[in-house]
Amino acid sequence: MSFQSAKSRIIKCVKLMILGLLLILLVLFLVATVRTFTLEVNAGLQLAQWEKTANISGDISKQQREELLSHFKEAIRIPTVSFSTTHQNTSALQEFNQLLERVFPAIFSSSLVKHELVQNYSHLFTVSGSDPQLMPYMLLAHIDVVPANEAEGWEVPPFSAQELNGFIYGRGTIDNKQSVMGILQGLEYLLERGYVPRRGFYIGLGHDEEVNGNAGAVNIVKVLKSRGVKLQFVLDEGLAVLDGIISGLDGPAALIGVSEKGQATVKLSVSMKPGHSSMPTRQSSIGVLAGAVTRLEENRMPRLFGYGPERSTFEHLAHEFGLPLKFIMSNLWLFTPLLSRVMERSPDMNAFVRTTTAVTMFNSGVKYNVLPSYAEAFVNLRIHTAQTLQEVLDLIEYTISDDRVKVELVNGFDPLPVSSYDEESFGFQIIKRTVLNMFPQVNVAPGICVGNTDSRHYTELTKDIYRFAPTWFKPGDPQRFHGINERISRQNYEDLVLFYFQLIQNCDVRNIPPSHTSEHEL
Ligand SMILES: *[C@@H]1O[C@H](CO)[C@@H](O)[C@H](O)[C@H]1NC(C)=O
Ligand SMILES: *[C@@H]1O[C@H](CO)[C@@H](O)[C@H](O)[C@H]1NC(C)=O
Ligand SMILES: *[C@@H]1O[C@H](CO)[C@@H](O)[C@H](O)[C@H]1NC(C)=O
Ligand SMILES: [Zn+2]
Repeated sequence: MSFQSAKSRIIKCVKLMILGLLLILLVLFLVATVRTFTLEVNAGLQLAQWEKTANISGDISKQQREELLSHFKEAIRIPTVSFSTTHQNTSALQEFNQLLERVFPAIFSSSLVKHELVQNYSHLFTVSGSDPQLMPYMLLAHIDVVPANEAEGWEVPPFSAQELNGFIYGRGTIDNKQSVMGILQGLEYLLERGYVPRRGFYIGLGHDEEVNGNAGAVNIVKVLKSRGVKLQFVLDEGLAVLDGIISGLDGPAALIGVSEKGQATVKLSVSMKPGHSSMPTRQSSIGVLAGAVTRLEENRMPRLFGYGPERSTFEHLAHEFGLPLKFIMSNLWLFTPLLSRVMERSPDMNAFVRTTTAVTMFNSGVKYNVLPSYAEAFVNLRIHTAQTLQEVLDLIEYTISDDRVKVELVNGFDPLPVSSYDEESFGFQIIKRTVLNMFPQVNVAPGICVGNTDSRHYTELTKDIYRFAPTWFKPGDPQRFHGINERISRQNYEDLVLFYFQLIQNCDVRNIPPSHTSEHEL
């Protein structure tokens, strides 16, 4: 074979390969384009097919409006602070108990409602339904708040509940007294108006969520378990309505949390012989530990974006993004590797891409001229839903790969199971329907909580746990959460009351309408 003919055959081959690649790209592009413009078919809600349930008017008079706001402000003014697992303001918690009894007389006197205190400051309400065949559900919220100090830069004192420009300011306004008071106020109005639920339900209000819920939520669950209770679904705090917060997304999105990341706190320690700093060993305990910590920071946990429900968040919202994001979000099957590399550049987006690693404490040394015999560091990890605690621990050992560094798990738990969010999912569809009843302009999608809630203690009572309240977040608002100038608008609080008022009635359907997914799914 001549050199020339070999060369021309190679050229031909390359030409064919380029043509093949172009063809593949064209097909990918066509499929991607079709998906971009057809995925939105699923967005509709067959409102007409829902069984009619009690439809009590949610109108409130001007006087009632003032009243519900003043109840809420009273709740904010009681400093129910959890300082630590062993230090809570019990006199404030006691005062809160009295407030609830005083401002919700219909609940506390109704023959339909049984009220119990759990561990003195948590509350369990059992509301009986007229049809005992229907599996009950449960609404959760928490009474305690994180500390707040006016000197940190609050515009008004943090337990004053003062109003500025239509907003009520104070610790607990969005975490989580808006739900505590919103749920009870909604039920109070229903009972006042003669409502009798068909489906029974529970309300659980914990008093130590901010310090893990081991007294409140854990014991409420124990009580329910001892009674053999099984729940259709649980709705707790967690995600919210995000308006202008997801970049590139036009319009507000209600994200319903279907899972929570897991957690691990790991202690790393190095012990060496002590010595004088005039004749140091090659590496000190500090040096060894610093090396281990550096390796952990440099070798982040693997990218897992797309392997958990965060994928569905973007697919549900895809049609609300402008081009070209719409194109990318509709085709995560193609763009996931690219997208996760872009997302991981910002810390808040990186939290959805992987298990995050935060080195939070580093202690060593007692004197400037003594080689420390001991150094320790603490690392806090938030585990992606596609990973387990054990896998994360194994990866830490592997990354550090140094026998001199002792790795110990201080505490931790796996990510929470993923609750259902398809068209047959009772809880998800009821919550979605209630959101759309009230805010037809909002897009509803499943989401992931990067923090944890009391609801994580409820996994033995139900397989479906949702984390959502229609608290309306605009740019800058997420920073108010556990931060300064926590606030809620008057209008938003009224909407929350109405949301629970409507949700409870919507839960009375025996079944949700049959699914239509199969006809539309691509
Ligand atoms: C509930 O009643 C109001 C009028 O009182 C009516 O406008 C609304 O359509 C009703 N909703 C349902 C779901 O039946
Ligand atoms: C605890 O709450 C009470 C109100 O019940 C309040 O007067 C007191 O200042 C609070 N204590 C602390 C340390 O916040
Ligand atoms: C509940 O209150 C009683 C009486 O005030 C007290 O003896 C008991 O220790 C409290 N229990 C808890 C769990 O705080
Ligand atoms: Zn909270």
